[in-house]
Formats: sequence, C-alpha cells, structure tokens
Amino acid sequence: MMKIGMLTSGGDCQALNAAMRGVAKSLYNCIPDAEIYGFLDGYKGLINNNYKLMSVNDFSGILTEGGTIIGTSRLPFKYINEPDEEGRDKISCMKKNYKKLKLDALVILGGNGTHKTANLLSKEGLNIVTLPKTIDNDIVGTDVSFGFQSAVDIATNTIDCIHTTAASHSRVFIVELMGHKTGWLTLFAGMAGGADIILIPEIPYEIDKIIEAIDKRTKEGKHFTIIAVAEGVISKEELEFTKKELKEIRKREHYPSAAYRIGAGIMQKTGQEVRVTVPGHVQRGGSPCAYDRVLATRLGSKAAQLIMNKEFGYMVCVKNNQIDKVPLSEVAGKTKMVDPDSGIITQAKAMGICVGL
Ligand code: F6P
Repeated sequence: MMKIGMLTSGGDCQALNAAMRGVAKSLYNCIPDAEIYGFLDGYKGLINNNYKLMSVNDFSGILTEGGTIIGTSRLPFKYINEPDEEGRDKISCMKKNYKKLKLDALVILGGNGTHKTANLLSKEGLNIVTLPKTIDNDIVGTDVSFGFQSAVDIATNTIDCIHTTAASHSRVFIVELMGHKTGWLTLFAGMAGGADIILIPEIPYEIDKIIEAIDKRTKEGKHFTIIAVAEGVISKEELEFTKKELKEIRKREHYPSAAYRIGAGIMQKTGQEVRVTVPGHVQRGGSPCAYDRVLATRLGSKAAQLIMNKEFGYMVCVKNNQIDKVPLSEVAGKTKMVDPDSGIITQAKAMGICVGL
C-alpha cells in the first residue's frame, strides 16, 4: 500500500488543482489502492497533523477549478526555526506527522519560499517531490511555472480593456501588476497588451525617462499612453536607500503603491490626466488557461512517476519544452530574475517600448 502526502503552500494560483489531479490520477492509475493524504492549508496542516484522506472522486471535476481544494497558507522560511504559537518546533512536528502516517513520499506544490522548506525537509530525510507553482514565474530550474500563463492572460485582458478608455479620454493609464521581486508577469502582459512603457523591479526606472516617452508620444500625435508597472518597482534614486530607509519614505509618502507614486510624478511634470488600475488578486483567480492545464497535468504525472521510481529530492520542471526534474538543492533559495540584457528586453526596446531607462 503506497501512502502519499500532498500539500499546497504559499500564494494560490490557477492550475493548482489541475496539478494535484495529474499526480493523483497517475498514481491511482498505476496503484489503485494508493492512499493520498491532503494536508490542509499548506505546511500548517502538516505541522498540526490536519489532513484529509482523499478519495478518487476528490480529484474529479477539478481540472478547471482555480484555487486549491486543500487550502494553502504562507509559512515564511525566515521563521522556520522559531517555535510556533504553541511553542512547538515546526520541522520536528512535520517530520513526526510524516512518520506517524508512515508516508512513502510527500508532494509539495509551491513557489520560492515553499521550496526552501521543502529542501530542508528533504535534507532531514523525508521523501520529497515538488511542483513549481506561482504566477510570478520566478522559480529557478524551470522555464515556466504553472499559474503564470493564466495570470498573463488576465493581466493582458486588463490592459486591453484599459486601452479603449485611455484612448477615449486621452489619458495616461497605469496598470499595476503583481510581482514584488520580479517582472516576468508585467513584462509578458505589458508586451502582449501593447503597453508603451513597461517598468519592472529588475530595471530601476528614471521618472524623467518616463516623462520623455510620454512627451514623445504626444508630439507624435498619440494622445494617450499605457504604462504596465510591477508592484515591486523602484526608481534609480531609491537604490541609494537601505530597505529600512525606503520603508520610512514609503510611510511618509502615503501612496498606496508604486503606480500611484509614479502617477503623481507624471501629473506633476506633464499636467496630463493619469488614472491607475490595480487588478491585484484577480490575476490569481478563475479557471486555469488551457496552457496551464496541460503544463500542470504533465508536471503532476511526472511527479507521480518520480514517486513510483523512488526518485526523491527533486522538483519537476519544464526545460526546452521537455518535462524533466531538477534537484531541490539547485532550486531552493534562488529567484529567477528578468535579465535586463535578455532578448525580450532588447526586442521591447527596439520596438520603442520605454523600460524606464
Ligand atoms: O507570489 C505570488 C504573489 O501573487 C505575488 O505576485 C504577490 O506580490 C503576492 O503573492 C501577494 O501575496 P498575498 O496573496 O499573501 O497578499
């Protein structure tokens, strides 16, 4: 009898259920009496031994469902060695509950923070297989994570809708997209949506270059401008400050987020009307796009294959369109950033898209 644990951790996204369905159906197809234990609400469920023995039916009808049927939560890695609210050691609790259930393996679906803890559990001797989940697409070791393309589609549609109202009112519109540390989502949706200016955290912007780009469009008779900005952008001058100093500055500024800060600068320097749209968590919701359904299903099936082959300590991934595996040790603790010298940035700039420089 094979007993497999499963948990989803960190921010949710589309195709989490599709991925779990891929793992489960592949396992049940080869081992009909396999038992799958769904730990509820991420690592918290494993710490508190809060699980549900899943049934085959639990994985039916969820391919198209957003979110996660077993819930999720964030367990920031920086606190992993601090006792929990009941004074318990988190890692010891997770190991104890894994062993109490006599699990043969634990499947973990998550992003960067989740992978740090997964790698730690693997080094502690648990049989771990992970799947790359996030709309940010910032996981090293895989060309793409599931959830990303679905979010790009939503963000692109948002920009498409903004285009018509921006043109009708001759306004500057700023669409602020998710991505605290990396700009993949903003870059792809910005290009797909035809944004004139695309600002990402990897390329600190100069407000005067943004103004120049707007003025250039105005001189060319273009009476509106669309700006796609990642929530985590900073300006070049802000690079001088420490994180602490920047936090203080942000508090004093009273802008809700980056888009409003940039919008205020544009209004002040150009006098143009500026409006801001922040789709926020809408980018993580709804049914997964077809691409993510296929990707998540394939990754799930690969994860089941690794389990049956007793290959542990890996994240399943996609490399050059092939489904593969990569050691957790090569993934954990790293972030896949947009390279400012990459082809997509070069092509964007060649197109005349302003990237804030
Ligand atoms: O990591 C995915 C993500 O959606 C980021 O893009 C975003 O900044 C963050 O999660 C939001 O976190 P929360 O859902 O906890 O507010």
